[in-house]
Amino acid sequence: MAFILIIASLVLFLWIVSLCKVLLLPRIPFAKHFTNNNGRAFRKRNVLLVIAHPDDESMFFTPTINFLTSKGHNVQILCLSIGDADGKGNIRKQELFQACVALKVPMQQVKIVNHPDLQDGFGKVWNHSLLAKIIEEEITSRCIDMIITFDSYGVSGHCNHRDVHYGVCKLLHDILQRDIEVWELCLVNEHSRRSGIAMAQHSSQWVWYACFTLLLL
Ligand SMILES: *[C@@H]1O[C@H](CO)[C@@H](O)[C@H](O)[C@H]1NC(C)=O
Repeated sequence: MAFILIIASLVLFLWIVSLCKVLLLPRIPFAKHFTNNNGRAFRKRNVLLVIAHPDDESMFFTPTINFLTSKGHNVQILCLSIGDADGKGNIRKQELFQACVALKVPMQQVKIVNHPDLQDGFGKVWNHSLLAKIIEEEITSRCIDMIITFDSYGVSGHCNHRDVHYGVCKLLHDILQRDIEVWELCLVNEHSRRSGIAMAQHSSQWVWYACFTLLLL
């Protein structure tokens, strides 16, 4: 019971931190880029969010997803593992689908890959060529014109996140024949309540959120 209370208060704290971000961070160019504010015709983008584990979308990309869907863009999610480091992969897969309900991303626009060479874990090196190939197939089959993914540090420093970043780089430099827009993570949280609801779907990972919150302190 005490444990649940601690987790609950940490989650609450995380919401407050997100709220502070809303109030303190200046608006960034990303928002301007996707808003029809200078007389140009609206162009609906087919955006692919590329993540490594179920819950990355809620942890790191909720503001981005909310922003894009609220402006009428089409967001699809490619998750490159089921996050089975602790043997909870099947639960985490379901949690991702539930989080996507909260994030208003239709289930058929969410794909979760479970490849033997791309398994969740701090010590696991993910093959960048393989990542590039999988992402390329997804881009082609879903007519994607924009990718969003982690920065080169992997946002939280997780090696799987970094490998995903470099997989996207490899795709851009070595494989893709056409122009595509790519953005690294940007952090502005305008819907902290929805972030909280999406995060709440990943109950198997609450211990990690607690650790992450402590790191923010
Ligand atoms: C990485 O993946 C590519 C594409 O699937 C494959 O050709 C290559 O052999 C792999 N490299 C390693 C070291 O496994």
